[in-house]
Amino acid sequence: MSIDDDSAQDVDPAVQAAREEQVTAEVLASFEGTPDPRLKQIMQSLTRHLHAFVREVRLTEDEWNAGIEFLTRAGHITDDKRQEYILLSDVLGVSMLTVGINAPARANATESTVFGPFFVENSPAIDNGGDVAEGVPGTPCWVTGTVTSTTGEPIGGARIEVWFADEDGFYDVQYEDTVIRGRAHLHTRQDGTYEFWAITPPEYPIPFDGPVGAMLAATNRPHYRPAHIHFMVTAPGYHDLITHIFVAGNDYLDKDAVFGVKDSLIYDFQHHEPTTAHGRTLTQPWDTVHFPIVLAPTGPGEHEGHGRPVS
Ligand code: BEZ
Ligand code: FE
Repeated sequence: MSIDDDSAQDVDPAVQAAREEQVTAEVLASFEGTPDPRLKQIMQSLTRHLHAFVREVRLTEDEWNAGIEFLTRAGHITDDKRQEYILLSDVLGVSMLTVGINAPARANATESTVFGPFFVENSPAIDNGGDVAEGVPGTPCWVTGTVTSTTGEPIGGARIEVWFADEDGFYDVQYEDTVIRGRAHLHTRQDGTYEFWAITPPEYPIPFDGPVGAMLAATNRPHYRPAHIHFMVTAPGYHDLITHIFVAGNDYLDKDAVFGVKDSLIYDFQHHEPTTAHGRTLTQPWDTVHFPIVLAPTGPGEHEGHGRPVS
């Protein structure tokens, strides 16, 4: 019999459990005097769940150290352009869960998904029929759609922000230069319609050269996002919508690293032969996609937005 076996025999399970519960009870009690009731609820719930996790996995001291080192590496790689903690939230599904709680299912309104790190304020304005893709290499894609309310009324003047990756899977902000490509905003016509040129984007890897990437590799998880175009749609009197359309048939639809895919957001991108269309002479094959967007009206006293978008 080894020394370890001997010491295991010495453990009194009842005393051990009582000591463990005692730590949890003390930490819970330490938050009792929190003046803000919401902060108190969050800190006490966090304590209960975190302690339950440590007890469930019987965390070793080496594993505790590895966790601290992981979080330290995440801190060191985070700067004003790279946010490893949001990426961690994304790959653990916490971002999507928070999106789902804060943008709940409302009638037939278009579903939301993650915001992602590549949105930039003050995108260029374009007219309907304009080119968001200007300068972005890739298959041209003519995007059309409508913005209507859940009861079917057209919403004129809705603001649509669009952003997408180029054919190499990179957003403009991931390049060294400061050129704006693949992002713009436009407004719907009075009949709620909109249209613009984009490209059909590819799947792309999320940033994976940091601790989150190492965790995905260690757990055999893919680090790709399926091909998508980002939309943020806002109109007075309606809930803000942050969403994507996903390209039907893309290989990564069922293995999105950040769990953002919803079936209702998968759209057919129709292929066309070179021709002249929508003010352009197309010398290469091109695509079209139609995205009807439905916004939910805000109720009395409700805000249009829901705070800082998640992810
Ligand atoms: C994105 O779609 O832009 C994105 C979302 C979450 C993590 C990384 C990228
Ligand atoms: Fe994206």
